[in-house]
Amino acid sequence: MIKCTGHILSTCLTPVHSVVLKNHGRLFSNLNYTNLTKSRKLLRYNQKCQFHKESTMVATRYPPPWFSIAPMMDLTDNHYRTLARIISKKAWLYSEMIAAETIVFQKGNLDRFLAFGPEQHPIVLQIGGNDLENIANATQLANPYGYDEINFNCGCPSPKVAGKGCFGVRLMLDPKFVADAMTVIAANTNVPVSVKCRIGVDDHDSYNELCDFIYKVSSQSPTRHFIIHSRKALLNGISPRENRSIPPLKYEFFYALLRDFPDLRFTINGGINTIDEVNEALREGAHGVMVGRAAYHNPWNVLGHVDSAVYGAPLSTITRRQVLEKFQVYGDSVLEHQEPRPNLREITKPLLGFFHSSPGNGVWKRRVDAALHTCTTIKSLLEETLDAIPDAVLDSPITEAPIGFPDVFSTAKKVLPPPYSVTEEEVFSYA
Ligand SMILES: Cc1cc2nc3c(=O)[nH]c(=O)nc-3n(C[C@H](O)[C@H](O)[C@H](O)COP(=O)(O)O)c2cc1C
Repeated sequence: MIKCTGHILSTCLTPVHSVVLKNHGRLFSNLNYTNLTKSRKLLRYNQKCQFHKESTMVATRYPPPWFSIAPMMDLTDNHYRTLARIISKKAWLYSEMIAAETIVFQKGNLDRFLAFGPEQHPIVLQIGGNDLENIANATQLANPYGYDEINFNCGCPSPKVAGKGCFGVRLMLDPKFVADAMTVIAANTNVPVSVKCRIGVDDHDSYNELCDFIYKVSSQSPTRHFIIHSRKALLNGISPRENRSIPPLKYEFFYALLRDFPDLRFTINGGINTIDEVNEALREGAHGVMVGRAAYHNPWNVLGHVDSAVYGAPLSTITRRQVLEKFQVYGDSVLEHQEPRPNLREITKPLLGFFHSSPGNGVWKRRVDAALHTCTTIKSLLEETLDAIPDAVLDSPITEAPIGFPDVFSTAKKVLPPPYSVTEEEVFSYA
């Protein structure tokens, strides 16, 4: 019996992997390794990895994804992403999850789901699904839109997604399918691919089970980047919202993955609310940090610091008044040109956290609510409401990020689970 740790193992073993082949042009990549000799299998696998390394380099025209804004359904739409991009030039943006079926069945209407403004780069498309053919087709249809990475959702616990349809986080229980899905995604795009997952599902919540998932997916597909929402999902009895707060965060699992899979890239996610925490997570070794709710509900104070405090750019001089002016030009142009005409409430929704904890915020939000009944443009809505906010708030650029001393990640690193280990028999039973 040999014992081998995580990724060292993945580089010394041969992936034995077979994907259903269909005569659909590029739909499925020919990865049927089973009839090859051991050395040819390894060569084939390394070629696949090489392909991925080359495609990873495509992304280097953008700043590294040290900071990203999480995919959030009904929140990270074009309107929010436009606002986020006005505030931060460097954060990586994620789309809401789009089901592969939606892309395939809405073939004639794709702009509605996939189009985005060029200023939104770097931007990642997240897709979800449980049917390889739809996943392949969806990726192929999305490819011309020029997303910078395609991410596959293995973390959503919503019963609509993880229930009958059996995708999202439930797929963590079927790593072979995830590897196949990642293989067809990579075969149908020329940009890097990644997986977003949790640290476990229900009782499948040991560190070794998480490693098995990462090991199987990374060794049987070109996936080299994993985004880890560092809490498990409970599939029965609690809502998606509760699933984002009740299962405890276990950052120690995340940092143990960095130790056990040194060739892979890991982005930490879950419960990170300030730039200080972002920087501490990076200092402790995370390759990237993904922030969701805090970036949505408090965009100015979170995103306003990203370019300077995370990427080292000079402190931005843009003020909130100037951000609103730019957003107004965008919003009114969408109202004028987009068919069907979106409603004003949808476009202004991302602004509701813009004055988070500033003087005048409560009054301003009540005025916006009232103005939405009468105004037909963003310009008129802002004119009618903005005097609730003091000029000093509107005309100040972001100040330096407050210095704090969060130590949550260094604490987690003191309680890492034992290194991942698998037996030779177990590894070969994966075939
Ligand atoms: C309203 C809402 C919708 C979400 N939708 C998605 C989604 O479409 N895909 C996904 O992978 N995660 C989704 N998430 C989870 C977030 O991406 C993120 O993993 C989670 O909120 C934890 O990060 P945070 O603590 O920084 O918010 C959603 C979260 C929220 C609050």
